[in-house]
Amino acid sequence: MKPSKQVISGSDFITTQELEKENLELLIEKAFELKNAKDPSKYSEILKNKTLIMLFFNPSTRTRTSFEVAMTQLGGHAIFMSGNDIWLGKNSESVKDTAKVFSRYANIIAIRMFPDISKGNYGTINKIMREFAEWSEIPIINMEDDLFHPCQALTDIMTIKEKLGSLKNKKIVISWAYHPKPLPVSVPNSIVLNSTRFGLDVTLCHPKGFELQPYILKTAEQNAKDNGGSFRIVNTMEEGYKDTEIVYVKSWGALQYYGNNKEEKKLRQPYRGKWICNEEIMKRADKNSIFMHCLPVLRNVVVEDAVIDGPHSVVYDQAENRLHLQKALLSEIG
Ligand code: CP
Repeated sequence: MKPSKQVISGSDFITTQELEKENLELLIEKAFELKNAKDPSKYSEILKNKTLIMLFFNPSTRTRTSFEVAMTQLGGHAIFMSGNDIWLGKNSESVKDTAKVFSRYANIIAIRMFPDISKGNYGTINKIMREFAEWSEIPIINMEDDLFHPCQALTDIMTIKEKLGSLKNKKIVISWAYHPKPLPVSVPNSIVLNSTRFGLDVTLCHPKGFELQPYILKTAEQNAKDNGGSFRIVNTMEEGYKDTEIVYVKSWGALQYYGNNKEEKKLRQPYRGKWICNEEIMKRADKNSIFMHCLPVLRNVVVEDAVIDGPHSVVYDQAENRLHLQKALLSEIG
């Protein structure tokens, strides 16, 4: 039996919303401890003889390498498997059998599975992630599915804390940007949930038609109430960026048109060159604001070079912190 989701050790990590805030704070604290360790060798054997199986059905630059490096630095071992390497998904083996067998070899299973948005299967991948968790006898880490990217979102809170100190009532805008393809909503969902959970004043900014799922919005409102922050939605960049201390840019697809790329494209196309983060719009933000993006990013489409390479940008620290947060997660969960 795995422990309840309120406890980190031995639990699954599918969405931060299902963990107690104290546990999330503990992970961030641990991540800082690991990042700032004067003597990293102190931690070099804490996962000795432990194995992480990483199952990737989609590409990754940061998530794969940071998890693998994290295991190496903590004295454990990571096994990379692509979706092509296993029988699951080819009408040959069930989730149950895959999860049960991996449980006999390893200590943690981490999975990345995006949706094929053109097929309109929003929400179905998270169900598979949860099916893994149901059958697995060891913890499951969600490395991004169609609903959540918890490792990214918790790292982002760590980065905001690192750059701005206290989180309480810090103003963040989570701004949609034009991208030629409809991208998953896992990152905006997770950032909205997590930033309201940590008491920030959160503005979700997107053109009409790009609303997130009602469940996410309702939960964000409740999070804000419970944690002394605020949550609002605006439909112009001018309003969204005004005086904000954190600019978080991300593109996502219109949920109403999942499975209908032609209609979705008609909705997004007019925003090309308009919903882009550039120096002009950054002037609306606080003069000491930070610019964040989870990466990968389409430069000069989503954000101009002048911003991502400019003085406000913290994107490489943000990417680096994935390593520290995941080391904390692996060491607590494993
Ligand atoms: N941000 C993020 O998850 O990056 P990768 O897709 O490269 O892993």
